[in-house]
Amino acid sequence: MFTTTLPQRNFAQTAAFPHDLFEAINALKKELNAVILAHYYQDSDIQDVADYIGDSLELSRKAASTNADVIVFAGVHFMAETAKILNPDKLVLLPDLNAGCSLADSCPADAFAKFKAAHPGHIVVSYINCSAEIKAMSDIICTSSNAVKLVLQIPEDQPIIFAPDRNLGRYVMEQSGRDLVLWQGSCMVHETFSEKKIVQLKIEHPEAEVIAHPECEPSVLRHANYVGSTSALLKYSQASSTQVFIVATEPGIIHQMQKQAPNKHFIPAPPMNDCACNECPHMRLNTLEKLYLAMKNRAPEITLPEETRVAALRPIQRMLEMSA
Ligand code: 13P
Ligand code: SF4
Repeated sequence: MFTTTLPQRNFAQTAAFPHDLFEAINALKKELNAVILAHYYQDSDIQDVADYIGDSLELSRKAASTNADVIVFAGVHFMAETAKILNPDKLVLLPDLNAGCSLADSCPADAFAKFKAAHPGHIVVSYINCSAEIKAMSDIICTSSNAVKLVLQIPEDQPIIFAPDRNLGRYVMEQSGRDLVLWQGSCMVHETFSEKKIVQLKIEHPEAEVIAHPECEPSVLRHANYVGSTSALLKYSQASSTQVFIVATEPGIIHQMQKQAPNKHFIPAPPMNDCACNECPHMRLNTLEKLYLAMKNRAPEITLPEETRVAALRPIQRMLEMSA
Protein backbone atom coordinates (compact mmCIF):
# COMPACT_ATOMS: atom_id res chain seq x y z
CA MET A 1 0.00 0.00 0.00
CA PHE A 2 1.33 3.45 -0.92
CA THR A 3 1.77 6.03 1.83
CA THR A 4 3.33 9.48 1.84
CA THR A 5 5.82 10.29 4.59
CA LEU A 6 5.34 13.69 6.16
CA PRO A 7 8.58 15.69 5.82
CA GLN A 8 10.74 16.78 8.72
CA ARG A 9 11.53 20.42 9.50
CA ASN A 10 14.06 21.70 7.01
CA PHE A 11 17.41 22.60 8.56
CA ALA A 12 19.69 24.39 6.11
CA GLN A 13 22.74 22.40 5.06
CA THR A 14 24.92 25.36 4.09
CA ALA A 15 26.82 27.51 6.55
CA ALA A 16 25.63 30.66 4.72
CA PHE A 17 22.09 29.98 5.93
CA PRO A 18 20.78 30.14 9.49
CA HIS A 19 20.59 26.74 11.18
CA ASP A 20 16.81 26.83 11.50
CA LEU A 21 15.29 28.34 8.35
CA PHE A 22 11.77 28.09 9.77
CA GLU A 23 12.73 30.31 12.72
CA ALA A 24 14.63 32.76 10.48
CA ILE A 25 11.70 33.04 8.04
CA ASN A 26 9.24 33.59 10.88
CA ALA A 27 11.47 36.37 12.26
CA LEU A 28 11.65 38.04 8.82
CA LYS A 29 7.88 37.75 8.50
CA LYS A 30 7.46 39.92 11.63
CA GLU A 31 10.24 42.34 10.65
CA LEU A 32 8.76 42.96 7.17
CA ASN A 33 5.08 42.64 8.13
CA ALA A 34 4.96 40.02 5.41
CA VAL A 35 2.46 37.34 4.52
CA ILE A 36 3.55 34.09 2.84
CA LEU A 37 1.02 32.72 0.36
CA ALA A 38 1.74 29.23 -0.95
CA HIS A 39 0.17 27.06 -3.61
CA TYR A 40 -0.48 23.37 -2.91
CA TYR A 41 2.13 22.36 -5.49
CA GLN A 42 4.98 23.84 -3.46
CA ASP A 43 7.43 21.64 -1.55
CA SER A 44 5.97 20.55 1.77
CA ASP A 45 8.42 22.59 3.87
CA ILE A 46 7.27 25.75 2.05
CA GLN A 47 3.63 24.79 2.69
CA ASP A 48 4.51 24.32 6.37
CA VAL A 49 5.99 27.82 6.75
CA ALA A 50 3.20 29.59 4.80
CA ASP A 51 0.47 31.71 6.36
CA TYR A 52 -2.08 30.60 3.77
CA ILE A 53 -2.10 27.65 1.39
CA GLY A 54 -4.72 27.57 -1.32
CA ASP A 55 -5.78 27.16 -4.91
CA SER A 56 -5.43 30.03 -7.38
CA LEU A 57 -8.79 31.59 -6.50
CA GLU A 58 -8.25 31.46 -2.74
CA LEU A 59 -4.74 32.88 -3.06
CA SER A 60 -6.03 35.72 -5.28
CA ARG A 61 -8.70 36.49 -2.69
CA LYS A 62 -6.07 36.50 0.08
CA ALA A 63 -3.82 38.75 -2.02
CA ALA A 64 -6.74 41.13 -2.55
CA SER A 65 -7.55 41.41 1.16
CA THR A 66 -4.20 41.27 2.96
CA ASN A 67 -3.03 44.08 5.27
CA ALA A 68 0.59 42.94 5.02
CA ASP A 69 3.18 45.31 3.52
CA VAL A 70 5.02 42.52 1.74
CA ILE A 71 3.52 39.53 -0.10
CA VAL A 72 5.88 36.58 -0.47
CA PHE A 73 4.32 34.43 -3.16
CA ALA A 74 5.41 30.81 -3.09
CA GLY A 75 3.96 29.76 -6.40
CA VAL A 76 4.63 30.53 -10.05
CA HIS A 77 5.08 33.84 -11.83
CA PHE A 78 1.49 34.39 -13.00
CA MET A 79 0.25 33.92 -9.42
CA ALA A 80 2.68 36.46 -7.95
CA GLU A 81 1.93 38.79 -10.87
CA THR A 82 -1.79 38.58 -10.06
CA ALA A 83 -0.97 39.58 -6.47
CA LYS A 84 0.98 42.58 -7.79
CA ILE A 85 -1.85 43.57 -10.15
CA LEU A 86 -4.14 43.66 -7.10
CA ASN A 87 -1.56 45.39 -4.86
CA PRO A 88 0.49 47.92 -6.83
CA ASP A 89 1.80 49.59 -3.66
CA LYS A 90 2.99 46.44 -1.95
CA LEU A 91 6.29 44.66 -2.41
CA VAL A 92 5.54 41.29 -4.03
CA LEU A 93 8.36 38.75 -3.87
CA LEU A 94 8.73 35.50 -5.80
CA PRO A 95 11.53 33.24 -4.47
CA ASP A 96 12.68 32.36 -8.01
CA LEU A 97 11.73 34.71 -10.88
CA ASN A 98 12.20 31.82 -13.34
CA ALA A 99 9.27 29.92 -11.82
CA GLY A 100 7.06 30.21 -14.89
CA CYS A 101 4.22 28.04 -16.19
CA SER A 102 4.14 25.98 -19.39
CA LEU A 103 0.43 26.72 -19.79
CA ALA A 104 0.92 30.49 -19.52
CA ASP A 105 3.86 30.19 -21.96
CA SER A 106 1.65 28.34 -24.45
CA CYS A 107 -0.25 31.57 -25.06
CA PRO A 108 2.09 34.36 -26.31
CA ALA A 109 0.53 37.83 -26.36
CA ASP A 110 1.19 38.65 -30.05
CA ALA A 111 -0.29 35.35 -31.32
CA PHE A 112 -3.28 35.70 -29.00
CA ALA A 113 -3.94 39.28 -30.22
CA LYS A 114 -4.23 37.88 -33.79
CA PHE A 115 -6.49 35.02 -32.60
CA LYS A 116 -8.75 37.51 -30.83
CA ALA A 117 -8.87 39.77 -33.91
CA ALA A 118 -9.91 36.74 -36.01
CA HIS A 119 -12.98 36.26 -33.75
CA PRO A 120 -14.76 39.64 -33.68
CA GLY A 121 -17.76 39.92 -31.34
CA HIS A 122 -16.39 37.28 -28.93
CA ILE A 123 -15.72 38.02 -25.30
CA VAL A 124 -12.58 36.55 -23.80
CA VAL A 125 -12.63 34.38 -20.69
CA SER A 126 -9.07 33.57 -19.66
CA TYR A 127 -7.87 31.06 -17.12
CA ILE A 128 -5.74 32.82 -14.49
CA ASN A 129 -2.74 30.73 -15.68
CA CYS A 130 -1.72 33.36 -18.25
CA SER A 131 0.51 36.43 -18.42
CA ALA A 132 -0.58 39.96 -17.46
CA GLU A 133 -0.59 40.82 -21.19
CA ILE A 134 -3.20 38.10 -21.88
CA LYS A 135 -5.21 39.21 -18.85
CA ALA A 136 -5.14 42.76 -20.24
CA MET A 137 -6.76 41.42 -23.47
CA SER A 138 -9.43 39.51 -21.52
CA ASP A 139 -12.93 40.39 -20.30
CA ILE A 140 -13.16 37.93 -17.43
CA ILE A 141 -10.50 35.89 -15.63
CA CYS A 142 -11.46 32.52 -14.16
CA THR A 143 -9.78 29.77 -12.18
CA SER A 144 -10.42 26.05 -12.26
CA SER A 145 -12.77 26.41 -9.28
CA ASN A 146 -15.10 29.02 -10.79
CA ALA A 147 -14.78 28.63 -14.60
CA VAL A 148 -18.10 26.81 -15.09
CA LYS A 149 -19.97 29.17 -12.73
CA LEU A 150 -18.64 32.28 -14.53
CA VAL A 151 -19.31 30.99 -18.06
CA LEU A 152 -22.90 30.18 -17.05
CA GLN A 153 -23.39 33.85 -16.08
CA ILE A 154 -22.61 35.04 -19.63
CA PRO A 155 -25.72 35.54 -21.86
CA GLU A 156 -26.33 32.45 -24.03
CA ASP A 157 -26.16 34.33 -27.33
CA GLN A 158 -22.73 35.84 -26.50
CA PRO A 159 -19.87 34.02 -28.33
CA ILE A 160 -16.91 33.26 -26.07
CA ILE A 161 -13.19 32.65 -26.57
CA PHE A 162 -11.68 30.53 -23.78
CA ALA A 163 -7.89 30.65 -23.25
CA PRO A 164 -5.32 29.29 -22.74
CA ASP A 165 -6.10 25.73 -21.49
CA ARG A 166 -7.91 23.55 -24.01
CA ASN A 167 -8.52 20.78 -21.44
CA LEU A 168 -10.17 23.07 -18.90
CA GLY A 169 -12.03 24.71 -21.82
CA ARG A 170 -13.35 21.34 -23.01
CA TYR A 171 -14.40 20.46 -19.46
CA VAL A 172 -16.23 23.80 -19.11
CA MET A 173 -18.01 23.14 -22.43
CA GLU A 174 -19.21 19.76 -21.17
CA GLN A 175 -20.35 21.09 -17.80
CA SER A 176 -21.98 24.30 -19.02
CA GLY A 177 -23.37 23.10 -22.36
CA ARG A 178 -21.87 26.25 -23.90
CA ASP A 179 -19.88 26.32 -27.12
CA LEU A 180 -16.45 27.92 -26.59
CA VAL A 181 -13.74 28.85 -29.09
CA LEU A 182 -10.67 27.27 -27.51
CA TRP A 183 -7.06 28.45 -27.56
CA GLN A 184 -5.03 25.22 -27.89
CA GLY A 185 -2.78 25.52 -24.83
CA SER A 186 -2.04 22.87 -22.21
CA CYS A 187 -0.05 22.15 -19.08
CA MET A 188 3.05 19.94 -19.40
CA VAL A 189 2.33 18.31 -16.04
CA HIS A 190 -1.37 17.50 -16.47
CA GLU A 191 -0.92 16.09 -19.95
CA THR A 192 1.66 13.61 -18.72
CA PHE A 193 -0.60 11.23 -16.78
CA SER A 194 -0.93 7.75 -18.24
CA GLU A 195 -4.48 6.49 -18.77
CA LYS A 196 -3.12 2.93 -19.01
CA LYS A 197 -1.33 3.14 -15.65
CA ILE A 198 -4.37 4.72 -13.98
CA VAL A 199 -6.57 1.87 -15.22
CA GLN A 200 -3.98 -0.60 -13.93
CA LEU A 201 -4.02 1.13 -10.49
CA LYS A 202 -7.82 0.95 -10.44
CA ILE A 203 -7.59 -2.81 -10.98
CA GLU A 204 -5.02 -3.13 -8.17
CA HIS A 205 -7.09 -0.90 -5.84
CA PRO A 206 -10.75 -1.54 -6.71
CA GLU A 207 -11.82 0.45 -3.62
CA ALA A 208 -9.97 3.60 -4.79
CA GLU A 209 -11.55 6.73 -6.23
CA VAL A 210 -9.79 8.70 -8.97
CA ILE A 211 -9.77 12.45 -8.31
CA ALA A 212 -8.49 14.73 -11.09
CA HIS A 213 -7.76 18.35 -11.93
CA PRO A 214 -9.65 19.65 -15.00
CA GLU A 215 -6.32 20.47 -16.70
CA CYS A 216 -5.93 16.70 -17.30
CA GLU A 217 -6.54 15.22 -20.74
CA PRO A 218 -10.07 13.85 -21.48
CA SER A 219 -8.59 10.30 -21.53
CA VAL A 220 -7.78 10.73 -17.81
CA LEU A 221 -10.87 12.75 -16.83
CA ARG A 222 -13.13 10.00 -18.14
CA HIS A 223 -11.86 7.74 -15.30
CA ALA A 224 -12.36 10.36 -12.59
CA ASN A 225 -14.94 9.94 -9.85
CA TYR A 226 -14.48 13.61 -9.03
CA VAL A 227 -13.01 16.57 -10.98
CA GLY A 228 -12.08 19.85 -9.30
CA SER A 229 -9.53 22.53 -8.48
CA THR A 230 -6.73 21.68 -6.05
CA SER A 231 -8.77 22.95 -3.06
CA ALA A 232 -11.86 21.11 -4.26
CA LEU A 233 -9.87 17.86 -4.57
CA LEU A 234 -8.52 18.34 -1.05
CA LYS A 235 -12.01 18.98 0.38
CA TYR A 236 -13.48 16.04 -1.51
CA SER A 237 -10.78 13.65 -0.29
CA GLN A 238 -11.46 14.67 3.32
CA ALA A 239 -15.26 14.51 3.09
CA SER A 240 -15.52 11.21 1.17
CA SER A 241 -15.78 7.96 3.12
CA THR A 242 -13.37 6.38 0.61
CA GLN A 243 -9.99 5.46 2.11
CA VAL A 244 -7.83 5.24 -1.05
CA PHE A 245 -7.47 7.90 -3.75
CA ILE A 246 -5.60 8.00 -7.05
CA VAL A 247 -4.67 11.68 -7.35
CA ALA A 248 -4.37 13.02 -10.91
CA THR A 249 -2.76 16.39 -10.32
CA GLU A 250 0.65 17.64 -9.18
CA PRO A 251 1.61 15.44 -6.18
CA GLY A 252 2.55 18.44 -3.98
CA ILE A 253 -1.09 18.52 -2.89
CA ILE A 254 -0.75 15.09 -1.27
CA HIS A 255 1.12 16.74 1.61
CA GLN A 256 -2.08 18.52 2.74
CA MET A 257 -4.30 15.53 1.91
CA GLN A 258 -2.14 13.26 4.07
CA LYS A 259 -1.83 15.83 6.86
CA GLN A 260 -5.59 16.27 7.09
CA ALA A 261 -6.41 12.55 6.77
CA PRO A 262 -3.38 10.59 8.05
CA ASN A 263 -5.18 7.25 7.83
CA LYS A 264 -6.18 7.55 4.19
CA HIS A 265 -3.95 6.51 1.30
CA PHE A 266 -3.14 8.83 -1.58
CA ILE A 267 -1.55 7.39 -4.69
CA PRO A 268 -0.07 9.91 -7.16
CA ALA A 269 -1.32 9.21 -10.70
CA PRO A 270 1.78 8.01 -12.60
CA PRO A 271 3.22 9.75 -15.65
CA MET A 272 3.59 7.95 -18.99
CA ASN A 273 7.37 7.62 -18.69
CA ASP A 274 9.46 6.55 -15.72
CA CYS A 275 10.21 10.15 -14.80
CA ALA A 276 9.18 12.67 -12.17
CA CYS A 277 7.36 14.68 -14.82
CA ASN A 278 4.13 14.72 -12.82
CA GLU A 279 5.96 17.23 -10.60
CA CYS A 280 5.72 20.82 -11.84
CA PRO A 281 9.33 21.83 -12.62
CA HIS A 282 8.37 25.50 -12.38
CA MET A 283 6.80 25.27 -8.93
CA ARG A 284 9.75 23.19 -7.74
CA LEU A 285 12.22 25.97 -8.60
CA ASN A 286 11.15 27.65 -5.36
CA THR A 287 12.95 26.28 -2.31
CA LEU A 288 12.87 27.19 1.36
CA GLU A 289 16.39 28.62 1.00
CA LYS A 290 15.33 30.87 -1.90
CA LEU A 291 12.25 31.95 0.05
CA TYR A 292 14.46 32.94 2.98
CA LEU A 293 16.86 34.84 0.68
CA ALA A 294 14.00 36.65 -1.07
CA MET A 295 12.75 37.92 2.30
CA LYS A 296 16.25 38.81 3.51
CA ASN A 297 17.17 40.66 0.28
CA ARG A 298 13.64 41.93 -0.50
CA ALA A 299 14.22 40.62 -4.02
CA PRO A 300 13.42 39.33 -6.59
CA GLU A 301 10.30 41.44 -6.79
CA ILE A 302 7.49 41.43 -9.34
CA THR A 303 7.12 44.59 -11.39
CA LEU A 304 5.00 45.36 -14.44
CA PRO A 305 4.10 48.39 -16.56
CA GLU A 306 1.26 50.40 -14.98
CA GLU A 307 -0.75 50.45 -18.23
CA THR A 308 -0.70 46.61 -18.40
CA ARG A 309 -1.48 46.34 -14.69
CA VAL A 310 -4.54 48.56 -14.92
CA ALA A 311 -5.85 46.72 -18.00
CA ALA A 312 -5.23 43.32 -16.35
CA LEU A 313 -6.92 44.39 -13.09
CA ARG A 314 -10.38 44.91 -14.65
CA PRO A 315 -11.05 41.24 -15.64
CA ILE A 316 -9.62 40.00 -12.31
CA GLN A 317 -11.96 42.30 -10.39
CA ARG A 318 -14.79 41.07 -12.56
CA MET A 319 -13.95 37.49 -11.57
CA LEU A 320 -13.84 38.38 -7.88
CA GLU A 321 -17.26 40.12 -8.12
CA MET A 322 -18.87 37.34 -10.18
CA SER A 323 -17.59 34.53 -7.97
CA ALA A 324 -18.31 36.22 -4.62
P1 13P B 1 -5.71 25.52 -8.99
O1 13P B 1 -6.40 26.80 -9.29
O2 13P B 1 -6.64 24.36 -8.96
O3 13P B 1 -4.94 25.65 -7.72
O4 13P B 1 -4.70 25.16 -10.16
C1 13P B 1 -3.57 25.93 -10.44
C2 13P B 1 -2.65 25.26 -11.36
O5 13P B 1 -1.65 25.79 -11.77
C3 13P B 1 -2.98 23.92 -11.79
O6 13P B 1 -1.96 23.43 -12.59
FE1 SF4 C 1 1.57 25.75 -14.90
FE2 SF4 C 1 1.03 23.18 -15.11
FE3 SF4 C 1 2.83 23.99 -13.33
FE4 SF4 C 1 0.20 24.50 -12.96
S1 SF4 C 1 1.20 22.52 -12.96
S2 SF4 C 1 1.88 25.93 -12.70
S3 SF4 C 1 -0.47 24.85 -15.09
S4 SF4 C 1 3.00 24.17 -15.58
